[in-house]
Amino acid sequence: MALALGKSISLFFLIIFLLDVRAKGVESRWSMEGEEDLELEKQLKMLNKPPVKSFQSKSGHIYDCIDIYKQPAFDNPLLKDHKLQMWPSSFPKGMPIYSNLRQNSTCPLGTALIRRTTKNDLIYGKTLQNHVKSHGINLKSGIDDGSHYAVMKTNVGEYYGASAKLIVYGFPLVKLDQVTISQIWVIGGAGGPEDKINTVQAGWHVYPAINGDSLTHLSTFWTADGYKTGCFNFNCPGFVALSPDFGPGSEITELSVYGGIQKSIEISIFKDQETGNWWLTYGHERSFVGYWPKELFNNLEKATEVDYGGTVYSPFNEPSPPMGSGHRIDEGRNKTCYFLNVQLVNERNELYDPKDNNVHLYADIIEYYDIYYEYESGPPDGCQFSYGGPGGYTR
Ligand SMILES: *[C@@H]1O[C@H](CO)[C@@H](O)[C@H](O)[C@H]1NC(C)=O
Ligand SMILES: *[C@@H]1O[C@H](CO)[C@@H](O)[C@H](O)[C@H]1NC(C)=O
Repeated sequence: MALALGKSISLFFLIIFLLDVRAKGVESRWSMEGEEDLELEKQLKMLNKPPVKSFQSKSGHIYDCIDIYKQPAFDNPLLKDHKLQMWPSSFPKGMPIYSNLRQNSTCPLGTALIRRTTKNDLIYGKTLQNHVKSHGINLKSGIDDGSHYAVMKTNVGEYYGASAKLIVYGFPLVKLDQVTISQIWVIGGAGGPEDKINTVQAGWHVYPAINGDSLTHLSTFWTADGYKTGCFNFNCPGFVALSPDFGPGSEITELSVYGGIQKSIEISIFKDQETGNWWLTYGHERSFVGYWPKELFNNLEKATEVDYGGTVYSPFNEPSPPMGSGHRIDEGRNKTCYFLNVQLVNERNELYDPKDNNVHLYADIIEYYDIYYEYESGPPDGCQFSYGGPGGYTR
């Protein structure tokens, strides 16, 4: 009897104790959210500068024209002594470059087009970006965290840039918690310690969590500490925007039709050998989008590896999204997705085709996403590979 009473008394206190813990847990979670919210508001206020002009795209995004000298990049403490560069002091030999200046630019002279960052961009950007890291890191960990890859990787060496023409598709059914990216990774510190990995990345993505839609957008990313910090597009200060017509996060509206007309974007990333900044050009005219200043990096004097291809992410228990054109690599032209005119930049600042003994292919679940290299140097499409797949892999 006494024992039973003792038991029920301890049970009573246990319940009280548990309720108390739960209440405290909830309370601290709420106050945490309040603080996080304030923090996000503060970040947004810093990232979204007062615009010279603003407008809304058809899909409802707000774009701002921001004075290039007052853009968010300059809030990064690493850039406090940075002198804005309007034009690279050198660029790869043979790369056709056209001026950003047009009569009919979207933004007025002296301003750059910057997509306005929203609270959701910041919340979801942080949660998901850890999942679409460099595959090199994922490979080492051997853990299936929901990201998958089909990429062409160069051997470890010395690279000063990369360039390719990416066929672009749209995937309106990609879900809020999924990502599909096709891009070029320019990697410093490859093969070294993880936290010393520096990257600049650019291509296209469907990434509803940071865009608020399932449209196709110009995708950029950088990190200087193996993905602990860094971010997509303008979600943190770093990238210096110069184009009055498009920028990181801009919508890409000309998309390929499966079995029909194929649309592409040209992406080049190269080091300005005098200043050390990493430039990004976009489009057939290779207009300058802007650059990642060298001050952001600690291990990117040169790239030691360049990767090209696709990566996707989906959470546990959810079929993975499509990559490339969403079709298998053996369907051929106009159906399979391609990277065309794949090139690298050497220490003499010359563009060159990768040799087959300098690259290797990697795909982690080839039944779902694969890659095939067609070494075929010469016009019009040069060195090229097909990649991608429908997805549908569930962990
Ligand atoms: C601006 O003009 C060029 C030709 O001069 C044209 O190709 C382009 O589509 C125009 N852009 C806009 C946004 O009107
Ligand atoms: C791909 O499309 C282009 C133009 O739409 C066409 O000229 C070409 O024959 C097509 N190629 C194949 C293999 O279907």
